[in-house]
Amino acid sequence: MEVVVRPEELATFRGCAFVPTMGALHDGHLSLIREAKKTDKPVVVSIFVNPEQFAPEEDLDKYPRSLEQDCEFAESVGADLVFAPTVETMYPAEPENIHLPEAATHPQLEDACRPTHFRGVCVAVARLFDLVQPSVTVFGLKDYQQYLVIKQLIEQESKRWSDLQIIGADIIRDDDGLAMSSRNVYLTTDQRSQALGLHKAIRCTSEEAMLEILDDHGLEVEYAVIRDCETLLSPTEGKPTRALVAALLGHIR
Ligand code: PAF
Repeated sequence: MEVVVRPEELATFRGCAFVPTMGALHDGHLSLIREAKKTDKPVVVSIFVNPEQFAPEEDLDKYPRSLEQDCEFAESVGADLVFAPTVETMYPAEPENIHLPEAATHPQLEDACRPTHFRGVCVAVARLFDLVQPSVTVFGLKDYQQYLVIKQLIEQESKRWSDLQIIGADIIRDDDGLAMSSRNVYLTTDQRSQALGLHKAIRCTSEEAMLEILDDHGLEVEYAVIRDCETLLSPTEGKPTRALVAALLGHIR
């Protein structure tokens, strides 16, 4: 497996299956790479801690970085190439003034807590799609709103990345039930058991019951809602729903 930093080195991988990440790879990311492998296309993984999606008070400087280990992990599950661009390669000029998909602008979800986040995610992902030119991309359903935002971005820019398909990959959990996440390394043992309230809450069928469980576990809730899984609006009779939760334990979101 090769590791490249320059976009010219991606030329032979056009039409690949692409897994964008911010590194600190764990089994959740490896499951995305395995999903990409199933397409039988060469698999490219990008590793780029994207400054544009962190607000000034967020953990950009502290965000875990482990490029060497990430490359070993990616190779162990069959990635063919790691693309690790610099900030200068990603943003040679001002980041694009991208038109945000509707899923990014739900006032009671991520937008309420991190108003600049999805703009930052979209400019990075759009730039990566331009550079890598994949035919398939894999996103985790753990960040369900992000998955929908990127799905809509691809639909909206269908001429720019023609025939690009998105695959949503299932959430991967540790044995105790906690969804794998790069930020789990920040949790103390006590916080880790508190965080299990998230898994219990999302199996509830009412928002009231979710809030009670999250509160019992000492989680500070940013939102805990049940929404239509396509529109992210209030559920309508007979249509599939998703529970969406964001909560804090101290400074860890
Ligand atoms: O989900 C992530 O890790 C990031 O938001 C992504 C998609 C790699 C964009 O920076």
